[in-house]
Order: sequence, then structure tokens, then C-alpha cells
Amino acid sequence: MSRAALLQQEMGLGPAWQARAGWFEQHPAQLLRQAPADGDAEEPAALAAEIAPEPQPAAVAPTAAPQQSAPAAPPPVETAPAPIEQPVPTPEPLRAELRTELAPIDWPQLQSRVAGCQDCRLCETRTQTVFGRGNPQARWMLIGEAPGENEDRQGLPFVGRAGQLLDNMLQAAGLDREQDVYIANVLKCRPPGNRNPAPDEIAACNGYLLQQIRHIQPTLIVALGRFAAQTLLETEDSIGRLRGKVHRYQGVPLVVSYHPAYLLRNQPDKAKAWQDLLLAHKVFRQAGN
Ligand code: URA
Repeated sequence: MSRAALLQQEMGLGPAWQARAGWFEQHPAQLLRQAPADGDAEEPAALAAEIAPEPQPAAVAPTAAPQQSAPAAPPPVETAPAPIEQPVPTPEPLRAELRTELAPIDWPQLQSRVAGCQDCRLCETRTQTVFGRGNPQARWMLIGEAPGENEDRQGLPFVGRAGQLLDNMLQAAGLDREQDVYIANVLKCRPPGNRNPAPDEIAACNGYLLQQIRHIQPTLIVALGRFAAQTLLETEDSIGRLRGKVHRYQGVPLVVSYHPAYLLRNQPDKAKAWQDLLLAHKVFRQAGN
């Protein structure tokens, strides 16, 4: 049986991710990787990860140094008076400026700031905010997009069908969802009708996520889906381009994977999500854990 077929069989590609007993390293996909016995040593793309560069702040144009020893300038030539400068219209930014300046506050203060937040229009339509779930001392941090209907009702992230799939994936990866991970979203409030987050909503909420990451200081971040990946990495690149690499966010290794809601609709891509989890585990181990 081909490795892909074995992998898919083991993953139980069915309506839900089949959790199985046993430690992650004993997964056949992992064993295949550890024992390339007969020349079949090709590494899955996700495992042959390249380290992607961390996004750099925009370069600051160097200011002209004073010219102390330059030869004396020639006398000015008489020219026509310079035209009066017209203001150049600022182009519409493609993305709203991300908020990063939130003053450090402690965890309970952060929770109550989020609970009472009125920084964008989503406060008018939410039932309640969704701060996060799991262990704030966890080494793994998973970041999704925004609360959906169930999350908005219960005040917890990933409690709907996508959440069940995520729980199964975590369990299959040997991770306890309450002990080993902390799960948060880019947005803390539900966009009405589950529409995509708007750039100004992401910008308004970004300071909260940043503070959560600073408090938790995870060893590894897994960005679930396009909005989490693009927001954290400040890129417009597609998931297809971003996954299979180890990125960095504020110095923390970051792996990109598909959003569980997408996987519910695109079951064959669960195999790729499994590869992403393998990559995440490898990065986690390499970080000395
Ligand atoms: N999708 C998300 O991105 N987050 C949730 O909390 C639920 C669904």
C-alpha cells in the first residue's frame, strides 16, 4: 500500500477525524519517516520544512548624514521659482494598521477588557465575547479566526462542528485540549452571519491577541486558516503557500494549517492537515520539549 493510502487509512478519512489510542510518534506516518528502509526516503513536503523569514518592520529611509568634508557647493544657479507643492493623497491602505501598542496588563485585566470591549461594530451584534480556552501555561497555542454562532452563545472558542473536528485532531496528535494547548481567535466577537472578519475589526482586536501571546509565551503557534495566518504573518499569501514552512511570530515558531471548518468541507485536505500537525510536533520537539 502506498504511503499516501496508508496515511489516509490511518487518518480514518471519514466524516470526522478518527482519534486513536497511542502516542503521536507511534503513528505509522511518523514511523515511515523514521525508518526509510529501502530507498523510499523521500520526506513529505511538510517535513522538509524551510524556515521562512519573520516579517520585518517596514524599512526606515536613511536620513542624509551631514556632509562635513564635502567640497564647497557651487554658487546657486538662478532658476524659475519652484511650483507650490500639492499634497499627495495617501493611498488607501490595503490592510488596516494592526494595533500593537496596548499597554501590558495582567491576564484577568485582559479578560475583563475583552469582555467589555466596544472598539468595533461587532460589539453591537455579539451575544458575548469569546476570550479563549485551555491552559494559559500551555506550550502550544492554536489561533483560529472568529467565533461562530455556537461560540457566541457559549462564550468559548471552537465548540461547534469545527471544534469537534479540532478536538479529534488534537486527540489524535496526543494533545489534551485543556492541558496542552491554549486556543484563541483573531477576533473575540462573532461577525454577523459568520461573514469574513473586516480589516478594521482585525486591527481593533489585534492588541488582545498580541497580549494573549505575550502572556502565554507558547513554544509553538499553530495558525488555523487564512485569517489567522495572514494576520499573524502580515501577508496576503495563500494557505497553500504558507503551510509546510516554519514561520516566526515575535520569535515564536509558527506553523500554518487549514481551518477545521474548511476541512469539514474538503475532507481530502485532512491528510495535509495531518502533515501540518506532524511538522508542528517536529518543531515542538526541536525546540527542546
Ligand atoms: N471558527 C473559528 O475560527 N473559531 C472558533 O472559535 C469557531 C469556529
